[in-house]
Amino acid sequence: MFGLSLNRAAGPPLHQQLAEALRQMILSGRAHPGARLPASRQLARDLSVSRQTALTALDQLLAEGYLETRPGAGTYVARDLPHLAPPPAPAIDTTPPPPEPLRMFQPGAPDMAQFPHAAWARHLDRAWRRPEPALLARADPFGWAPLRAAIAAHLAAWRGLDRSGTQVVITSGATETFELLARILFRPGDQVLTESPGYAPMRAALTRAGTAPVAMALDDDGAVLPPGARARGVIVTPSRHYPMGMTLPLARRLALIDWARRTDAWVIEDDYDSEFRYTGTPLPPLAALDADRVIYVGSFSKLLSPALRLGYVLLPQRLLAPMRAALAETGPRASLIPQPALAGFMDSGEFATHLRRMRRLYAARQTAVRAALARHLPEHLIAAPDPAGMHLICRIGPALSGVPDLQISAIAQAAGITLRALSAYWPDGDGPQGLVLGYAGFAPDALETGVARLAAALRQYQPGKSPVST
Ligand SMILES: Cc1ncc(COP(=O)(O)O)c(C=O)c1O
Repeated sequence: MFGLSLNRAAGPPLHQQLAEALRQMILSGRAHPGARLPASRQLARDLSVSRQTALTALDQLLAEGYLETRPGAGTYVARDLPHLAPPPAPAIDTTPPPPEPLRMFQPGAPDMAQFPHAAWARHLDRAWRRPEPALLARADPFGWAPLRAAIAAHLAAWRGLDRSGTQVVITSGATETFELLARILFRPGDQVLTESPGYAPMRAALTRAGTAPVAMALDDDGAVLPPGARARGVIVTPSRHYPMGMTLPLARRLALIDWARRTDAWVIEDDYDSEFRYTGTPLPPLAALDADRVIYVGSFSKLLSPALRLGYVLLPQRLLAPMRAALAETGPRASLIPQPALAGFMDSGEFATHLRRMRRLYAARQTAVRAALARHLPEHLIAAPDPAGMHLICRIGPALSGVPDLQISAIAQAAGITLRALSAYWPDGDGPQGLVLGYAGFAPDALETGVARLAAALRQYQPGKSPVST
């Protein structure tokens, strides 16, 4: 009852303890005036004490005036105790903080205003209003089978990968995938080659798993395999280097696979946004070159929403059992709830339509932001067209010659604009000078306003003066 506990081993007699516990409940307001108490028999049973103990405690509180009886109706907390106002609620501010708006030019974010809300609601409703029995049974840690099949079909259509859905495992995103892969492929201390600069959450996941990430240098074609590398694996973004955007040429890809075969190393391919290619034909993924050694990692974070927390990994057959064992330890982290909806969205063709629409939209936005830069900041920030992706790398123009990218980033920051310094993507901050400008998440008029605001801030800049926060 009410979470009362009595100390049977020591302390005052049980009836006194019970009376004191009830007294404190009444005084603290947890048992409010007028509340009905269980009958003495029930109270005795609940607390495993004799009925006499319960009766003695209740009698004591009746005598003190904490309780009152109503003939034939039971025992109640006295209604007229003047000091029994409930304690004032602690002053906790329950108003949620306002949602943080996406800061202008923040890279990596899809436009959530374009999320297919109506179709998504329809597919969720269809899946869950009358769920099929398999949805209510114990979930397969590999994910909802129809979604795994839909992803395999998507990879066949968009990436030329002809694999079975049984090789697809649903995860809560690429970051979880890297963690799982690190656990099943590598031992603590193993060296794993990573791109530098590269995706920081990936490197953090490797470090958490105890492996030793080894940075690969970068040239104009992408990551360079160090001669004689003795690593157990490599993680690359060959379709589109993150964040520089170059595509790893075929010769480099073949050299990478050759190295992995010779040294019995794993290749992990992070294909995070290859669907957003605006010009040219993408090279087939590395996974198409070696189905037994390359692990293909995909995510819906950029294609649909980072809030969905869904991603997947396409595994070589021989890794299915180790992955099942790893997931048996942690349990799946991806929620099952959105999975049948996403499967329906993909099977109906709406996902492909959504991707094509977003591709057109993002391509137009890239054109719009480049035009705005050319209009407002022709001598400050220079952005060449990029055949793919969701952000541009801007070179620093003559009007800002000699101004460090970190300083330009700080000026933008003070004007409420996120413009990341390219040099800061390198682990020691010693990368080339430039600015990373995300454009995909913003409508053309917002891009225009954003560039105009940035131009105003940069034109005001005087060397030697620190930017002032707005
Ligand atoms: C290089 C790279 N890989 C993968 C991802 C996806 O990560 P996650 O699925 O954990 O959101 C991102 C960001 O969306 C990324 O920039």
